[in-house]
Amino acid sequence: MSGSGYEGGGADSPIVIDVEFTETEEAEGMAPLDSIDEFSKAESGTPMDLPHSLPTPDGRARVVTVTNQKGGVGKTTTVINIGAQLALRGYRVLVVDSDSQGNCATGLGVDKSKVRTTTRDLILSPETAVDSRHATAVEGLHIIVGDRSLIGLEQEMLRQLGRERRMKDALKPLLPHYDVVLIDTPPSLGLVTINALVASDGILIPVQTEYFALEGLALLAGTIREVRGLLNGDIGVDGILLTMHSKTLLNQQVAGELLEAFPELVVNPAIRRNVRLAEAPSHGVPIHLHDPSSPGGKDYQEITTALERRWGLDR
Ligand SMILES: Nc1ncnc2c1ncn2[C@@H]1O[C@H](COP(=O)(O)OP(=O)(O)OP(=O)(O)O)[C@@H](O)[C@H]1O
Ligand SMILES: [Mg+2]
Repeated sequence: MSGSGYEGGGADSPIVIDVEFTETEEAEGMAPLDSIDEFSKAESGTPMDLPHSLPTPDGRARVVTVTNQKGGVGKTTTVINIGAQLALRGYRVLVVDSDSQGNCATGLGVDKSKVRTTTRDLILSPETAVDSRHATAVEGLHIIVGDRSLIGLEQEMLRQLGRERRMKDALKPLLPHYDVVLIDTPPSLGLVTINALVASDGILIPVQTEYFALEGLALLAGTIREVRGLLNGDIGVDGILLTMHSKTLLNQQVAGELLEAFPELVVNPAIRRNVRLAEAPSHGVPIHLHDPSSPGGKDYQEITTALERRWGLDR
């Protein structure tokens, strides 16, 4: 952790909401990555270039975008639970939700209807950055809320100068006050996601171990290449997270292909499909406050430990 003290200015009181649970997904058994190696070795496909990331410069937060243009792969769940785990371990964490669905706020117990300053303000009026942060149900974890006001933002940004760098400029004064900034992105590779990538040191890519996973990655790899070439030459991939993983043959095969293609980038363990992870947001809390000993709770703990090492936080 870096040494500078955080004053907590501008953060509202947490408002923990409690809505009825409607999720019906099934929990399944364990499928550790170690047991996957023997599965399908990818034989076809052009090698895909996913550049590795660089260490974090001293004295400021590591900025990490969690992205995949495919919807529903576990981006938001990952941001909420890794952010919360890091905060639980004493790191100062800022979540920036750049998705108009605004699910990070819900999952972290923040009532969006009470929030006046959002990621839209951060991007359009960077001077509001300090005051756009809100406290969450987790101590040490702050959020800049995404909400419906982000709809149409990309159109408005088209008229602005330096439109790809606005989030980077806005976040800059906040970085010395945090250890990690996690940016959640919408399921698209539009201008808001580009802003997140330009602002970031690293990318975490949640991938559901289903058919088309590698095709989706190829599209993202192209965007990363463009961002590196034109806007942020230092950005690279911090890790690929296998999400909603279970023991089906398809899941195991896809996991095997990803491990084969990106042995150093795939983060161990795969995150199991677990209904407790899907339930937690309906209580406005991350998994460690809902059911830490559930399979999902344990997987996100282990993933966080692996990332602590990758990001050099444990030094
Ligand atoms: N490991 C898991 N096990 C079971 N359910 C999960 C798991 N991870 C996420 N979910 C559930 O799957 C759904 C999609 O997850 P999430 O919202 O995190 O994906 P996303 O990539 O952020 O989606 P979007 O692209 O719409 O932003 C949610 O209902 C979430 O609770
Ligand atoms: Mg999401």
